Amino acid sequence: MRRLFIVGIAGASLLLSINAGAAGDAAAGKSKSAVCGACHGPDGNSSNPMWPNLAGQHAPYIVKQLKDFKSGARKDPVMAPMAKPLSDQDMENLAAYYTSQKQK
Ligand code: HEC
Repeated sequence: MRRLFIVGIAGASLLLSINAGAAGDAAAGKSKSAVCGACHGPDGNSSNPMWPNLAGQHAPYIVKQLKDFKSGARKDPVMAPMAKPLSDQDMENLAAYYTSQKQK
């Protein structure tokens, strides 16, 4: 009985940590976005028509594009080196930040 209880706790905390890993942290994303803001705007509203807005974009789409830039599935000489150093968690965090911004 006691053993089952301990296994249950371990299972629950594992699930919790998996959930925490999957959801993006917008505050962490914001601090990571300093370099991105040079082109995409500090709040994801780009001032240059050649650079896409990220404000209000769907988070899963942003994550997918970043993964594709990193893997080379989507090719862009500007974005490839931007995406390279990002971890999956960085991408989730950046996506959480940009999706929470208002498009202007
Ligand atoms: C030097 C300017 C520049 C910087 C810095 C930059 N980007 Fe980009 N980004 C671009 C350009 C240009 C594109 C469009 C690429 C294309 O035409 O495929 C783009 C595309 C994207 C897209 C895809 C948007 C879409 O609508 O498909 C995402 C997501 C993105 N950038 C995120 C980021 C993140 C996150 C960072 C910071 C880690 C960043 N970018 C830094 C210029 C930049």
